[in-house]
Amino acid sequence: MKQRCLRVVVTAGPTREHVDPVRYLSNESSGRMGFAIAAEALAAGHEVILIAGPVSLATPKGAKRVDVVSARDMLAALRQHFPSADALFMAAAVADYRPRTRRRGKWKVKQDGQEHISLPLVRNPDLLASVARRKGPRTVVAFALETSEGPRRALAKLKAKNADYIVLNGPQALNGNRTSARLLDGTGEIGRWDACSKSVLARKLVRLLP
Ligand code: CTP
Repeated sequence: MKQRCLRVVVTAGPTREHVDPVRYLSNESSGRMGFAIAAEALAAGHEVILIAGPVSLATPKGAKRVDVVSARDMLAALRQHFPSADALFMAAAVADYRPRTRRRGKWKVKQDGQEHISLPLVRNPDLLASVARRKGPRTVVAFALETSEGPRRALAKLKAKNADYIVLNGPQALNGNRTSARLLDGTGEIGRWDACSKSVLARKLVRLLP
């Protein structure tokens, strides 16, 4: 049976948290999982708003792409697009901390001659928890990358962030086209895929939509 057309927001890629105009903190996320979800949601006939951190991937044809850099930029884009959406796939790897100050000019870090330096960081908001708190009937799919105690931690995240589902994978998912993943809802594990292509996994995730 054909799914009805929904408005689907997908976040993808890393965020960058700048120290100065040329340096930043970030992570290894390629954005492939989120872009694959966007492509499969479009193929299923949905409208897609793709909120993308800095990645070098082509926009799936038909997606409305919103490019962002930092976690706070991504939060602003989510606040703009989530209220009118039916579903959210939160595949972005959001940086948990950012430098306390972003210098206007390049940080002349060696000028004091120190061997060791410290960079004060402040916590970024939890984007998903913040928008999904009042999610109403929207379907919210979170992602968790864990290196140990995966199911227990993923389930705790699902509950803390008020998601309906959470996709659990390991660090091997970060770059490359294949991933092994487990899918959980509030009751525990409901699906498992080994060495699955991100497109195939994306198609299965899009089928979670009502
Ligand atoms: N997430 C978010 N905002 C953050 C951190 C994470 O919205 N500041 C989202 C991610 O997009 C993902 C889910 O929350 O869908 C879980 O992300 P993860 O990095 O695994 O969890 P954290 O809550 O950051 O926990 P930790 O890094 O300590 O494991």
